[in-house]
Amino acid sequence: MGKVIKGGTVVTADRQFKADVRIEGEKIAEIGENLSADEVIDAEGAYVIPGGIDPHTHLEMPFMGTTAAETFESGTFAAAAGGTTMLVDFCLPGEDGSLLSALDDWDRKSKDQICVDISYHMAITDWNERIFNEMETVVNERGVNTFKHFMAYKGALMVEDDEMYASFKRCAELGALPLVHAENGDIVQELQQKYLAEGITGPEGHAYSRPPEVEGEAANRAIMIADAAGTPLYIVHVSCEQAHEAIRRARQKGMRVYGEPLIQHLTLDESEYFNKDWQYAARRVMSPPFRSKEHQDGLWNGLAAGSLQVVATDHAAFTDEQKRMGLDNFTTIPNGTGGLEERMAMLWTKGVETGRLTPEEFVAVTSSNIAKILNIYPMKGALVPGADADVVVWDPGISKEIHVSTQKSIIDYNVFEGMEVTAQPRYTLSRGDVVWAYGQNSQPQPGRGRFVKRKPYASASKALSKWKSLNTPRKIERNPLNIPSGV
Ligand code: URP
Ligand code: ZN
Ligand code: ZN
Ligand code: ZN
Repeated sequence: MGKVIKGGTVVTADRQFKADVRIEGEKIAEIGENLSADEVIDAEGAYVIPGGIDPHTHLEMPFMGTTAAETFESGTFAAAAGGTTMLVDFCLPGEDGSLLSALDDWDRKSKDQICVDISYHMAITDWNERIFNEMETVVNERGVNTFKHFMAYKGALMVEDDEMYASFKRCAELGALPLVHAENGDIVQELQQKYLAEGITGPEGHAYSRPPEVEGEAANRAIMIADAAGTPLYIVHVSCEQAHEAIRRARQKGMRVYGEPLIQHLTLDESEYFNKDWQYAARRVMSPPFRSKEHQDGLWNGLAAGSLQVVATDHAAFTDEQKRMGLDNFTTIPNGTGGLEERMAMLWTKGVETGRLTPEEFVAVTSSNIAKILNIYPMKGALVPGADADVVVWDPGISKEIHVSTQKSIIDYNVFEGMEVTAQPRYTLSRGDVVWAYGQNSQPQPGRGRFVKRKPYASASKALSKWKSLNTPRKIERNPLNIPSGV
């Protein structure tokens, strides 16, 4: 009965050891030596790790006058091919402003297409009584316990400080976690106009108009608002030292603030925007932009030191033709880059192979830490009996060059084109099924992925509200008769 992954080295976030992993149905049944089952999956010479979880994607997202080209089918298959067995996509309210109809919309798009499991973050792009009320249903009935706030994209997705404060307070009440895209949207818009007026219309203007200070200020502001509202906070796509420093400082003060660098920011730098080929540079336009090597070093150090917890992709893939919407004006180039398929291999190659990360830290930042933050650990992100059998046989003996011609993503380029990676998934298993086998012509299995409901964070919100109530400012009781006469 069942399957056994045999002969590999199991790596979890805390340790590595030689063991076989036996799977029954969709779950891990047993981990130990000399296990047997009907079907044997060879892991000799390889690591056996929990499937990757990418907590930040935008599949088929309507954005900046177009729709991200990666579909739920191509995106989840690309994920599987790269060793990622779950992703969390951002659900954006549409014209009617309703969170619940946005969820219906995302379900309709994703349901029959997904090849691996998914979940959603809900975006708060406005503030009113209906949104306040719907948030409760989103958390308690629809299984979404994270709400994203954009501090940039003025005139579109951006929310103001008072709206964030109100929404963060609502998150605290519901046991949900607020997320922020931290960039000062007002100043970005001013700087965009300044550079356009100076005749800078190309993709380099994108980088100039979004300097690290603009991100650092917003990160600090979001942290202050989260503290005032009494909630933990998760900062997406942390790209620079200024934002990282804000997170470190908050954590030293005892705040639960999490930071998510992207594989793109860890491995690509700002010189990409100065390329003479417009299309080359435009393909790399995303927010925040790629930064200098010094910022990159800081992000790597944060992953090793624990001040940054997870590595994501922010996979938002637009074709060359879509990027050309901004040929005369960098502010209209759709923002976003890909990475779903490359995240694990690039992080291994540039991180573990160089000694910047241990294999255990690699597992923590690609899977286990994310599962804990999303409140789905150890169903996901762990190799233990009873967990979902989302398992990757990770082969450090397969090296390959990244090429658009062999990728599973449907867009027509790859921002990592020509780079060599030194590890690949030999097998990717999603709830016990092999969904990817390297070199064996695996095909997408649309519709087999499932939506993962996530519960509110009962213990974290209880602890924080208890601490806050013990330490809240209190009224000083005075005897009015003590006021000196004649005042
Ligand atoms: O440029 C980016 N990051 N595009 C996707 C939307 C977002 O800001 O996360
Ligand atoms: Zn963002
Ligand atoms: Zn994003
Ligand atoms: Zn080649």
